[in-house]
Amino acid sequence: MKTLVINAHPGYTNHEHFSVQLQDKFIELYHTHYPEKDLTIMNLYEEDIPRIEATSLWSVWEKQATGKELSSTESKIAERSQFLLEQFKAHQRVVVSTPLHNFNITSRMKDYIDNLMIARETFRYLTEPDEQGKVSEGLMRANYKMLMLFASGSVYTSDSIYKSVDIAPHYMQTIFQEMMGFDDFQLVRAEGTATQDKDRILNTAFTDIEQKFSSFYQ
Ligand SMILES: Cc1cc2nc3c(=O)[nH]c(=O)nc-3n(C[C@H](O)[C@H](O)[C@H](O)COP(=O)(O)O)c2cc1C
Repeated sequence: MKTLVINAHPGYTNHEHFSVQLQDKFIELYHTHYPEKDLTIMNLYEEDIPRIEATSLWSVWEKQATGKELSSTESKIAERSQFLLEQFKAHQRVVVSTPLHNFNITSRMKDYIDNLMIARETFRYLTEPDEQGKVSEGLMRANYKMLMLFASGSVYTSDSIYKSVDIAPHYMQTIFQEMMGFDDFQLVRAEGTATQDKDRILNTAFTDIEQKFSSFYQ
C-alpha cells in the first residue's frame, strides 16, 4: 500500500516547525513498519502546482470544455495537473502536514486540492439529488484514508471563542471524506503553539500519532 506525505508548509526545510515535527514523527514510525519504496514525500512549496488563474488552469479547463486547442504552455499545465491527479490516486494513504495560516490551510494546499477535485476522477455529479440532497458522490472509495497533521497557534478544541472558527479541519474532512469518499479522516493537532508548553504539545501530538498509526494502515 502506497503512502503520500504532502507537506504544505512554506518553511518546510525548517524542522523546528511543529507541523514539520509531526511529519518527521510520522515518517520515523512509517520506516519502522513499511518499506521506503512505498513512500512518496512531496513538499508543495518546491513543486509546480498549477493554480486556478486566467492564464493557467482556468484557460485550460475552458478550452478543454469547448474543444479548443491548447497552447504549448497550456498543454504543459494540463499534463502537470494530470500527473498530480494520477499520483494522488495511486496512493491509498495520504498524510497532509500543514500549519494554520489565517484560519485555514496554506494557499498552496488549496491550489493542490484544485488539481484533484475533478469530476469523474475523484467525484461525480449525480443526475438527481440523493435522499440527503447531495448532488455528487465520491469516487475514492477503495480504502483510501487521510491523516491530517495540523499545527495552530491557538487552541480550538476547548470551549473558547476560537471553537467556531475551527474551519481548516472541517474543510479538509469535507473535501476528502464527504466529497471524494475517503473511508477515513483522522486529525492530529499540535495546538496552542503560541502560548503553551512546547514539549507538552509535541508529546501529546506524538502519542496521538502513535495511537492512530495502526488503524491508519488497516
Ligand atoms: C501567516 C501566519 C498566519 C497565522 N494565522 C493563525 C491563525 O489564524 N490562527 C492561529 O491559531 N494561529 C495562526 N498562526 C500561528 C501558527 O498557526 C502557529 O505558529 C503554528 O505553530 C504554525 O505551525 P508550524 O509550527 O508548523 O509553523 C499563524 C502564523 C502565521 C505565520
